[in-house]
Amino acid sequence: MSFPKRFIITLGLVTLFGSLCGGITTIEAKPKIERQPFGKTENLTPVDLYTLTNDKGVEARITTYGGIIVSLKVPDRNGRLGDVVLGYDNLEGYLTDSPYFGALIGRYGNRIAKGSFQLGGTPYQLAQNNGDNHLHGGVVGFDKVIWKAKALWGEDEVGLQLTYLSHDGEEGYPGNLSVTVVYTLTNNNALKIDYSATTDKKTIANLTNHSYFNLAGTGDILGHELMLKADRFTPVDKGLIPTGELSSVEGTPMDFTKPTAIGARINQNDEQLIYGLGYDHNWVLNNSGGKLALAAKIFEPISGRVMKVYTTQPGIQFYSGNFLDGSITGKNDEIYYKHFGFCLETQHFPDSPNHSNFPSTSLNPGQRYKQTTIYKFSAQ
Ligand code: GLA
Repeated sequence: MSFPKRFIITLGLVTLFGSLCGGITTIEAKPKIERQPFGKTENLTPVDLYTLTNDKGVEARITTYGGIIVSLKVPDRNGRLGDVVLGYDNLEGYLTDSPYFGALIGRYGNRIAKGSFQLGGTPYQLAQNNGDNHLHGGVVGFDKVIWKAKALWGEDEVGLQLTYLSHDGEEGYPGNLSVTVVYTLTNNNALKIDYSATTDKKTIANLTNHSYFNLAGTGDILGHELMLKADRFTPVDKGLIPTGELSSVEGTPMDFTKPTAIGARINQNDEQLIYGLGYDHNWVLNNSGGKLALAAKIFEPISGRVMKVYTTQPGIQFYSGNFLDGSITGKNDEIYYKHFGFCLETQHFPDSPNHSNFPSTSLNPGQRYKQTTIYKFSAQ
């Protein structure tokens, strides 16, 4: 983490002063971070909303409920700021009816078949919250818990550190897992997410963020041009569980090695697209050696907005918002229909604990789980 201690202490004092005075805490500096109340959960736990702003006015709003990115405003080719993530105007929407909009996902991003796996010879049964399968951490995953927040401030960036202790047995997972996620908004229009976790018992971990992007800010995302740095993907069965194969994308609608409109092949009569109702697959990144590398680039021709995704992870789940069906009314009264947002979830492969040929997701006491992902915005 690149925040000098003195900034954290200074900010801590300012935040404390703000808290004592009540109401909104404002730090008058550029870049800056502000805290305000965002409502209460059903059991009356207060939830906060932090607004991170860089020196160009790019703004990320993040709530302590689920660590959700509530809004993200970035410039188009004319410098006009627009919100590029789906979500709700208020906490209530997130509490009652959210398909993981903007949320932190854990302990395990995506599916684990039948919610079961073995670790060191011991069988474990996780919550089954997606048919027979386990999805995105279970019934109450990291997207539905309250995170402890601490504001961080540096010369060229602002950050929000979120921590959560997931107890031994939560959703069926072994070990107390101590998790830290730091969101950093930099002056060069990047939103960086650093995840880390430690355990006191052998367990599994696979964390990610589930933001739904729409670089045009409205309408469907079928005209966005996507490039994925991946020559292979992991095909799935009807239940969206990987078969275990790593297949070449060549000659298939899964080939995004060259920039291609999301909608160009999405309705082809292809078994994988039929199973996914569109794209809902894990791509095997070419640079997956644990070093931060470009994984994806997406360009929206009307606004000119570009998003580049860098990650340390071996996989990226590209999901084209196939389950959005018009039943959700989100921010600014926009109805979210099919394909109105897309996700690029950087992570290990789905169902890894049941596939010994996939990179391992197990975590031992004494080890530290780490992942870094950067969403970098520009316009052309
Ligand atoms: C992930 C999954 C999808 C779907 C969404 C949430 O991206 O791969 O199948 O469950 O989350 O709706």
